[in-house]
Amino acid sequence: PFKIDDFKREMIDNIRTTVGERQVVCGVSGGVDSTVLAVLLKEAGVKTRAIFVDNGLLRKNEAAEVQANFKRMGVDIETVDASERFLNALAGEGDPEKKRKIIGNMFIEVFWDAVGDAEMLAQGTLYPDVIESASNAKSKASVIKTHHNRVPKILELQAQGKVLEPLAELFKDEVRALGRSLGIEDDILQRHPFPGPGLSVRCPGVVDRERLEIIRECDAIFIGKLKEYGWYDKVWQAYAGLIPVKTVGVKGDERSYEWATNLRAVVSEDAMTAEWVDLPAKLLRETSQRILNDVKGINRVLYDISTKPPASIEWE
Ligand code: XMP
Repeated sequence: PFKIDDFKREMIDNIRTTVGERQVVCGVSGGVDSTVLAVLLKEAGVKTRAIFVDNGLLRKNEAAEVQANFKRMGVDIETVDASERFLNALAGEGDPEKKRKIIGNMFIEVFWDAVGDAEMLAQGTLYPDVIESASNAKSKASVIKTHHNRVPKILELQAQGKVLEPLAELFKDEVRALGRSLGIEDDILQRHPFPGPGLSVRCPGVVDRERLEIIRECDAIFIGKLKEYGWYDKVWQAYAGLIPVKTVGVKGDERSYEWATNLRAVVSEDAMTAEWVDLPAKLLRETSQRILNDVKGINRVLYDISTKPPASIEWE
C-alpha cells in the first residue's frame, strides 16, 4: 500500500531541489492542507514566509487559535488583519457569486500587498481541487463555484514555473496521514474543512458584523456540544449558520421577532456528495436550549436534513 513515510521523504527532497535558494511564500488558513504544506516547507528547510489573512469572516476565537497552533509547531506566520477591508468591500452585497468574487479578489489583493514580489508561491492544492478546476476550465457553463487556486495571477506564476503544489496528488485522508507523519497533532489534523470565503457562505444574503457575531456564537455552542458528546470527529463538517428571516416568538414575557439559525452536520468522503447526520436528540436539544437562552437575535433553531445533492454543504 501507500507508504507515507517514503513519500514524505521524497516530497521533502523534491521541495529542496525545486526551491533551492529561492524564497517561498504560502498562505496559511489553519486548515489541514495549508498547515501540512507549511510544515513540509519547514521540514525541507527552505526560506519561507507563511501569511495568514484574517478576513473578518472567521469563527469565534479562530485567529488566536490558528496563531497558537502554529506557535506550537514552531512555524512562524505573519498575520494580516484585513477584516475591515473585507467587510467594507462586502457591505450591502447579497448575491452569492458576487460575494465570492469580492472575497476572492480581496484575498488576492491583501495577500499580494503583504507579499510584495514572490520568487515562488506554494499552495496546498489537493487532487480533487485539480480535477474540479480542470472541469471548470473546460466548460464555463459547469462552473459551480469560483476556485481561488487558479486565478490569473497564479496562472501567470505557474507559467514561469514558480508555483509549488506538493499535495496535488493527494486526497484529504492522505494529507492527514502525511500530517501525522510530520508530527502534527490530531486536533489540528481532525479540524473540519472550512471554506475560503468563511462565514460569508453561511450567512445567506448581506453580511455584516452583527450577523457574523450571531453565527459565531451559535456555531461555538454547537461545535462545543459536538465535542462534548464525542461527535466532532465522527462528522465531516458541522456548523451553525444564519437564516436571516424574522419570525415571531416569546422570550421571557415578551414577544420576540428574531432570526433563525440552521445547524448542519454531514458525513462525506470527498465533499462531492454528503449525507446529513442523525445526531442524538439530547445533543440537539441541549444545543438548541443554549442557543435560545444565550444568543441575542435568535429565537428559532432548525436542523438541516438535506443531502448533497441537491443541497450543497454550505448555504451559498
Ligand atoms: P459545498 O457547499 O459546495 O462545499 O457542498 C463542498 C466543500 O467545500 C467547501 N467549500 C470551499 N472551500 N473554498 C474552499 O476552500 C471555497 O470557496 C469553498 N466553498 C465550499 C465546503 O466547506 C465543503 O467542505
